[in-house]
Amino acid sequence: LDGTTQAIYQLHTDAQRLYQHTLLNTTSGEKALSYLHNVRQLSDEVIKTFGIGFVPNDDLLCNYAKEQNLSHELLTASQLFITNDMNGEMRDRFSGRIVWPIRTDAGQVVGFSGRALDSDNSIKYMNSPESPFFTKGRILYNLDRAKNVIRQTGTVMIFEGFMDVISAHMADEKIGVATMGTALTSEHVRQLTRLAKRILLVYDSDEAGQNATKRSIELIENSPKHVEIGVVHLPDQLDPDEVRTQRGLEVLKKSLNQSILTPIEFLVNEARIGKNLNNQSQYLTFLHEVMQILKTATPVEQDIQLTRITKEFGTSKQALQDQLRQINIHPSH
Ligand code: UTP
Ligand code: MN
Ligand code: MN
Ligand code: MN
Ligand code: MN
Repeated sequence: LDGTTQAIYQLHTDAQRLYQHTLLNTTSGEKALSYLHNVRQLSDEVIKTFGIGFVPNDDLLCNYAKEQNLSHELLTASQLFITNDMNGEMRDRFSGRIVWPIRTDAGQVVGFSGRALDSDNSIKYMNSPESPFFTKGRILYNLDRAKNVIRQTGTVMIFEGFMDVISAHMADEKIGVATMGTALTSEHVRQLTRLAKRILLVYDSDEAGQNATKRSIELIENSPKHVEIGVVHLPDQLDPDEVRTQRGLEVLKKSLNQSILTPIEFLVNEARIGKNLNNQSQYLTFLHEVMQILKTATPVEQDIQLTRITKEFGTSKQALQDQLRQINIHPSH
């Protein structure tokens, strides 16, 4: 580790400490703290466990860095500040935001994600920008704290956001990680398959989350190392954090443990969405999509899904099997 990187790491460590102090012990942090307590329903214990902080508007970190005689170049490289193009002045990047420290799997703080308190007049989330030490295609939120339990249990849960990871933690599922507002990459998958033999996808149950689930299934299925995939389906377009705050911790616990679908089940359920299956042409489109999904499934999984369709719609199992066989013979159809 060269001197500059070491100094940047130290500055992140100090920033996390100063920001958390501001949140928990100062008047400038009061509004943010009551938001975290009352709206997000987080206890001080959870706030401390995850190192959450608040960045005041008085350039606390900038002034601290100057007291430490850190060079202008180092401050720029740290990405913790924004330089005003007009007068060259530096300000704390996350001023006025609640910040969640992002750590490497070794536990070093290398960035922050900052959330605006009121989402009406500013962009909701802002992350540290991509840099040599903050690479979103590699970093997984909470991996440092979760990796031992992931290794012990052989299972990891992937979430969309860090608040979802924290909600799972509160529901006693301490195997959660999240990407940093970007898609899952093969590098993320490589790291996780070294630790786990089973990956559960717990994305938001809105359309964006379900589309991300499809993409992640494909990515994980293409991983060189075989890994079992499960998809957790949450109710009513909610995300895990919303399930906790709107339905309660017990409902989240249950969902995380009991609403687990196989990728095939998930994809077949998805194929139904937006179709009127009493309409013959839409039903045939649905069947066509199901056959595409089932092409690569195991015989048992094929049988389970075809049986379901036979029971629900009365189409004979034999006809469904014939159609599936045809698709396997003529894969382009
Ligand atoms: P969402 O859009 O689902 O966040 O983005 P949310 O659930 O509405 O946010 P809250 O609950 O109101 O706070 C999913 C996650 O992607 C990350 C955040 O971690 C967020 O929780 N994200 C999103 C970013 O990192 N940057 C962004 O610009 C947007
Ligand atoms: Mn959202
Ligand atoms: Mn979302
Ligand atoms: Mn969400
Ligand atoms: Mn949310």
